[in-house]
Amino acid sequence: MMKEGMMDENESSELTEDEKRLFADLMPEDLSEILDTGVNRRHFLKLMTLAGGGILAAQSAVAEQLMTRPFNEAAPADYALESIENGVNVSFKVNGTARKLTVDSRMTLLDTLRERLDLTGSKKGCDHGQCGACTVIINGHRVLSCLTLAASCEGKTVQTIEGLAQGNSLHPVQEAFLKHDGFQCGFCTPGQICSAVAMLDEAKKGHLSYVSETVRQPAGPAKLSNEEIRERMSGNICRCGAYPNIVAAIQEVHSGKPVEQVFRSV
Ligand code: FES
Ligand code: FES
Repeated sequence: MMKEGMMDENESSELTEDEKRLFADLMPEDLSEILDTGVNRRHFLKLMTLAGGGILAAQSAVAEQLMTRPFNEAAPADYALESIENGVNVSFKVNGTARKLTVDSRMTLLDTLRERLDLTGSKKGCDHGQCGACTVIINGHRVLSCLTLAASCEGKTVQTIEGLAQGNSLHPVQEAFLKHDGFQCGFCTPGQICSAVAMLDEAKKGHLSYVSETVRQPAGPAKLSNEEIRERMSGNICRCGAYPNIVAAIQEVHSGKPVEQVFRSV
């Protein structure tokens, strides 16, 4: 209980040295005026709450712009490092173009591609590394971009579905997906195609899979059966069940020979 005659600390008209320093940090232009006119601690606390709320609101506004920009709005200019919570600078190549961005250190590559670079081809299916819809190619390897932090891509080369075609010429795997009707809704298709492109490269280099017939095979291109293509593509889920057509498309590119169009034979 406060004794009569004692002043509540919050009612003191004097600011402590710590409070003055805090004021100087947050509202330097108001400091001298406040000190000249005098301010009690209750007023000071109110001002600090408002200043803190303003800073929080500014950070929230940036976060909102980062995550919820409407589709028809152009990609935002880069944000200042101090305006992003946990901001880090990252430089990497995306589809042959050098990119330099400031991102929240917790931002995934998938969100960075979609929300900051307007590359919405890579899809967010599960955001948990379970469906493969977000597959992109980093330094030649297929990678789940929903499980990859953008900050970890410093100096790397990223290829997305948007970067596979050369001018007006589609990549052979894209051509084959069209010919074999390797999709229905198309949601999984960018991930399927990026995965297939990198997988065929792995097979060319002789990488083994769980169903490789022999682990003693001589180094060199692996010959893939349809079963092995299914196994190697098993990280890419298609909820429409276009698997027979997807396998036919990949087999045609792999073998270099025409493969019967499955949908015509049923
Ligand atoms: S969204 Fe990345 S694996 Fe599903
Ligand atoms: S085509 Fe619809 S999910 Fe694969």
